[in-house]
Formats: sequence, structure tokens, C-alpha cells
Amino acid sequence: MPTLTLTSTLPKSATAVDVPVAVGGVEALGDDLARTCELQGFTGEVGQTLVVPTPLSEPLQVLVGIGEADELDVHALRSAAAAYVRAIGKHQAVATTLVDAAGSIDPAAALRAVVEGASLASYRYLSLKSDPTSVLRKVSIVARFKGAKAAFTSAKALVEAVALARDLGNEPGGSLVPSAFVEKAREVAKAAGLKITVWDEKRIARERLGGMQFVNKGSTHPARLLMLTYTPSSRPTANLALVGKGITFDSGGLSIKTGTGMMTMKIDMAGGAAVLGAMSALGPMGTTAKVTAYIPLTDNMINGDASRPGDVFTARNGKTVEVLNTDAEGRLVLADALSLAAEKKPDAIIDIATLTGSVTAALGTGYAGLMGTDDHLVRALETASKDTGEKVWHLPLPEEYRKNLDSVVADIKNIGSSPYGGALTAGLFLEEFVADVPWAHIDLGMSAMSDKEDGIITKGGTGFGVRLLAETCAGWKQAAD
Ligand code: BES
Ligand code: ZN
Ligand code: ZN
Repeated sequence: MPTLTLTSTLPKSATAVDVPVAVGGVEALGDDLARTCELQGFTGEVGQTLVVPTPLSEPLQVLVGIGEADELDVHALRSAAAAYVRAIGKHQAVATTLVDAAGSIDPAAALRAVVEGASLASYRYLSLKSDPTSVLRKVSIVARFKGAKAAFTSAKALVEAVALARDLGNEPGGSLVPSAFVEKAREVAKAAGLKITVWDEKRIARERLGGMQFVNKGSTHPARLLMLTYTPSSRPTANLALVGKGITFDSGGLSIKTGTGMMTMKIDMAGGAAVLGAMSALGPMGTTAKVTAYIPLTDNMINGDASRPGDVFTARNGKTVEVLNTDAEGRLVLADALSLAAEKKPDAIIDIATLTGSVTAALGTGYAGLMGTDDHLVRALETASKDTGEKVWHLPLPEEYRKNLDSVVADIKNIGSSPYGGALTAGLFLEEFVADVPWAHIDLGMSAMSDKEDGIITKGGTGFGVRLLAETCAGWKQAAD
């Protein structure tokens, strides 16, 4: 990601600058340019850009569409900033004046949207490239309003958190094993002032985290339970818990995936990465709630003593689970993590996981599924979703489907008897482990990764959920009784 700087005037070092243009604003650019726009089909719609032929001695000018002036919102600004940095070719230090174009939008929200658009669209995962050639290195953001500095600091922390989650999602499963994820989390916790606690395989056994042990059985890399705590500087206004699925690679276990199905499964820790990212941004965002994170880490592999379909384990909360498909492993490690979170009786628990392919069959890659037992919590997530543009869709937890999880030999089985509604079955399974704590579940499915470049989305890990979770925690208000 490029370095971001806040500046009150256009910096001399920038070799490119944007010219925000609303729909209908083309004429004001002068006859020649207006004619060029017409010939090139540039009308000022959001996402359109036009590089203006500029004398070499001057910075390159890029017209950037911001859409209808009276419809301008943070989403348009974010998209415009993303389109701009995608249009600047090989320029390495550029400036943007989009915050100034924001008009009546709250300037802090406008600044955040521009920071998000400019930085996330130019994110690249370069750690494994031998020649990380010419990428955008610096973006100067021109803004002058009172409070710009504070808004900039929190926006910067948030996009760095998204980049962290994308990096983790992009790192190969063979190197991002549980202990490596933990080491990364230690660095993050130190920098962000979070308390970190890690349980190793012995402690996991002593604490009776049967789901984690079950999934880890076929692996050579021991499991870890990672816990992080954010404590606000004044008395906490609420207690929240975040739980993220941290399967560092999902082969499916003995219920093995196909080659194609396995190809993307290094992404299966995206929920955990989103939680770690969100935790790192809570302080800079001025969060007043105390937030505890639980990230169960293991890969799902096969050896001669791997867990078998038909095996039964006892989860942390004492329920026995018959595992008929070892590829439905995320819910097994989440069962333990949710039980632990619920024991502390927080005001709300939110879990996030690449839990099912089924949610993507229902919603496509642009939406995550949202399920929950509490209206206030679901609404808080929907509000944060609207603000951040990380789209969720509320799905039901139909009580009448619960019988599909009845097991002949144990309290519950880990897959449903019906081939349909798999995301809901998974949600119903998780519900068994949250006791009576208000709970919401975000099933990322394939929204955790992208095979296309599109606005702020880059190929590979998307970091989906970081902004959604951070915004939900930072904006949290207790329900009125
Ligand atoms: N990690 C996968 C779900 C997944 C698949 C996420 C593709 C993102 C993209 C999960 O562990 C899994 O394999 N789920 C199974 C459950 C089934 C066996 C009940 C699925 O969705 O097929
Ligand atoms: Zn699986
Ligand atoms: Zn999985």
C-alpha cells in the first residue's frame, strides 16, 4: 500500500493530481477539454477517469467523475478515489483533492472514504515477487478542515488494518501456519496496545477445546487459540466479543476437497484475519467498548490418524458432536471459541468466518450472509455495512431446520440432512454454542477473496469484514431497555 500523507496544499512532489468533475460539470472545463471529454465519452459518472494531455513540466491532470452533485456520498467518493489511483499509470507520487469536492458531506467521513479508495485500490501483495516493480508509493491527500488530522489518523489505521487482513489472506497456507499467524498477531498487538494471550496445544487440551483438537488431529502443526483484548482508556461503555475462523488451510480432511475446491483454501483464515485487523484499529477509532477477540487457529489436514467421518467429540460447552463431514470444520473450531466467548457473558458476540460455499451460491461474491439472534445487534451490523459499503444480507435461522442436525449417536451432527440451505444449517449449528448471549454470525463465503480488480477490491484476499467489524465496535451503543 502506498504511504499516505495529509497536506493542506498541493505538494510540489506530486507528479499527478485529480480534477473532480460532477455530471454536468464538463462544460466548466473550457471548450477544448469539454470537446475532448465528449469525444472520449467522459461525462463525470462515478468511476470514470480521463487523463488530460498535460505539458511535461506540469503534474499530470486526471479528470475523475464524482457522479451527480446532489447524490454525492461517501460511496461515490471512495469509488472516485479508487478509480483515480487506478488511472495514474506508473506515477509514483500523486495527490488528490477529492475531499475538497465533497461539499456538504461530513468532512471526516469524506476524508476516510478518500483514504480508503486511494489506498485500498492500490494495495498489492508483493512479498513473494522477486521484482516488485513500479507501484504507487505515495498519495498526498489535500484537506484543510478542523479535525482533519484526527480523522486522517483513524482512517489510516483502518486501511492499514485492511491491508494486514489482505496480506494474511494472500500468504500461502504452508507458511502462514498457526504459530506464524500468532507471531504476526504479537507484532500487531504490541503496536496497537492490545493484550494478547495464546493457548498452545496442551492448554487447548486442558481447557477441553474438543473441536479444535478434533480438526487439528491430522496435522503436523499444533493448534493455537489466539485471544486479544482492547481496553478503552475510560470505563468501558460495553463488552463485546469478536470470533474469527482461523483455518490456515482447509484440505477438507478425509472428506477431501477436489483440486479446484482446495485451490483457494489458504483464505480459510479470513475471518480471523478480519478480527485481528479490526482489533488493531479500535484504539485510533476512539472505541469506548471493551472488545475481546477469539481466533481458533489450525489447519485441516490428513495423516494416518486424522479424524474420521463418524467420529464424535465433546465441545467446550459439553455438547457432543458427531462429525459426518470433516470438511465442515470451521463450525467445530468456532463451537469452542463461541462457547468460551459466551462464558464471559459479553453484551454481544459477533463471529465471522469463511464458513460455507452455500452462502455464495445464495448471494454471490459481493455479499456476506448475516444471521443472528438479536435485532439490535443485527441492525448495528447492517448500519455499519451501509456506512462502509461492505455488504451483508440478513438471512434467517429457521428453528424448523434444526432437526436436520439431529444425530443418532450424539447431541448434534455437523452437517444437515438436507442438501439445501447449507449456510443456514451452519448458522443453526453455531447457535448451539452461544448460550443466551446476543449473537450475530457473518458468513463470508467467497467474499473473502476476489479474482477481479474492481474499485477498492484487488485480486486475492479482500480484507472483507475489517471495516464492518471495526465500525460496528467503534459505533456501538447499548440497546435501550
Ligand atoms: N472453508 C469452507 C467453505 C468455503 C468454501 C469458503 C469456498 C469459501 C469458499 C468450509 O470449511 C467448507 O468446506 N464448507 C463446506 C460445508 C459442507 C461440507 C457442509 C461447504 O460449504 O461445502
Ligand atoms: Zn471445510
Ligand atoms: Zn473451511
